[in-house]
Amino acid sequence: MNILLVGSGGREHALAWKIAQSPLVTRLVAAPGNPGIEAVCELRPVKADDAEGLAALAREIKADLVVVGPEVALAAGVADRLAAAGIPCFGPTAKAAQLETSKAFSKAFLERHSIPTAGYGVYETVQEAKAALDAFQPPYVIKADGLAAGKGVAISPDRADAEAEVERMLGGRFGAAGARVVIEEFMDGEEGSLFALCDGKQAVLFGGAQDHKRAFDGDTGPNTGGMGAYSPAPVFTADLVQQADERIVQPTIRKMAVEGAPYRGVLYAGLMATTDGPKVVEFNARFGDPECQVLMMR
Ligand code: AMP
Ligand code: GLY
Repeated sequence: MNILLVGSGGREHALAWKIAQSPLVTRLVAAPGNPGIEAVCELRPVKADDAEGLAALAREIKADLVVVGPEVALAAGVADRLAAAGIPCFGPTAKAAQLETSKAFSKAFLERHSIPTAGYGVYETVQEAKAALDAFQPPYVIKADGLAAGKGVAISPDRADAEAEVERMLGGRFGAAGARVVIEEFMDGEEGSLFALCDGKQAVLFGGAQDHKRAFDGDTGPNTGGMGAYSPAPVFTADLVQQADERIVQPTIRKMAVEGAPYRGVLYAGLMATTDGPKVVEFNARFGDPECQVLMMR
């Protein structure tokens, strides 16, 4: 098989390293890749959000499969463009990727289908959002609606800090991604990431991982996109995994198909193990970075 891998991070280096080991692979090309990835395959200078350019490259190298690493490619409609060209793609359409690219979309989806998650509201003005804080207890969880590179979430210890966050987010700190904010109930518990491979109809669990979220030693400092990861993650007991599969992963894949947005690729369920069982913190429409690095090693 000829394979085109899209992306340029540590996650894509791990994917390239693993894909290159498959006896099924005759040619592996990464776009745009990075110098580490170049050690295991060819690179071509097409950007991850250039759907047209990637479809042309896939045709040129006669790709049998395109594997998409980053969410920017999914949001840019790379999977949609490839589907139109008849080229199989590991990664959801832009519509299905909204599970990640719009927190308002994913929260409404979860609510509609009674899939466990924190209670929430969506707000478009500072006034509305500040008033809504009355209905929540501290710590306040405030999220920019759109993609913000893992940095669009604030956990505010008190009301004054929460109000300042609302002002910052709706005031343009994350550009268009902050045009709406989601305010959520705080969930207490240990957090883990569970991965499932999906073909639009079925989901098969692919293991769990945890990343080191806080910037500084001793679990202190601001939240980051992940400072490192490990797998297996002790939080995922057999019981928790079964509950998460039955109550979260399987219904999500079933209902996305029912809603006309069949989900293909990897579903990343960010979960909180609460005393009421696992609840969704967020979905991502791709492998985690750095979680992918440890999963590919395993
Ligand atoms: P997200 O981008 O939605 O995953 O949020 C980033 C991080 O903020 C998560 O990984 C959690 O550590 C934390 N977080 C998000 N939502 C909640 C919540 N409702 N309760 C507690 N912590 C949360
Ligand atoms: N490590 C978290 C993420 O990839 O979203």
